[in-house]
Amino acid sequence: MNVASKLEVIGSDDPRLYLPASQLTIEQIKSKEVQELIDEMLNLMHSKGAVGVAANQLGVDMSIAVYGYKYRSELPQHPEIKDTVIINPLIKPTTDVIEMANEGCLSIPNLKGLVPRYRDIYCRYIDRDGVRNKKQLHGLEARIVQHEHDHLAGILFLARVDDFSTLQFFDK
Ligand code: NI
Repeated sequence: MNVASKLEVIGSDDPRLYLPASQLTIEQIKSKEVQELIDEMLNLMHSKGAVGVAANQLGVDMSIAVYGYKYRSELPQHPEIKDTVIINPLIKPTTDVIEMANEGCLSIPNLKGLVPRYRDIYCRYIDRDGVRNKKQLHGLEARIVQHEHDHLAGILFLARVDDFSTLQFFDK
């Protein structure tokens, strides 16, 4: 199934973006429907050149996010992050250190702004095989997971921007 043709990114005026996403059971995760959705989310992320996508950005009420990073000129200093699927993620900061960096979002096209995020977090999640996992994350990967975790809690990055003077419009 070609996902990108079926699923559309919903806009920031859509109330579904502001609701917490429903948790999945292991049985649901292993279903054909959810496995196809995950493939479609990964395809969409690649086709849009995004570093992460949450299911509720596609109007799907499921606690699933995908993320990954390959070299690009806007983020030249970061090592590659392999494609990762996190389901029912829970996060906990493991430092008091907050870093500021620009974020953008497929749900708010052509806008970026400075967002404070914890530099280090611990994340527990279920992977696409239905296996419970946990990992310590740092830097860009920790930032992406905090952004996607926020999506699944119904929070957009704009709500995390402290200083609206840092917002910038840009053309793709
Ligand atoms: Ni986003």
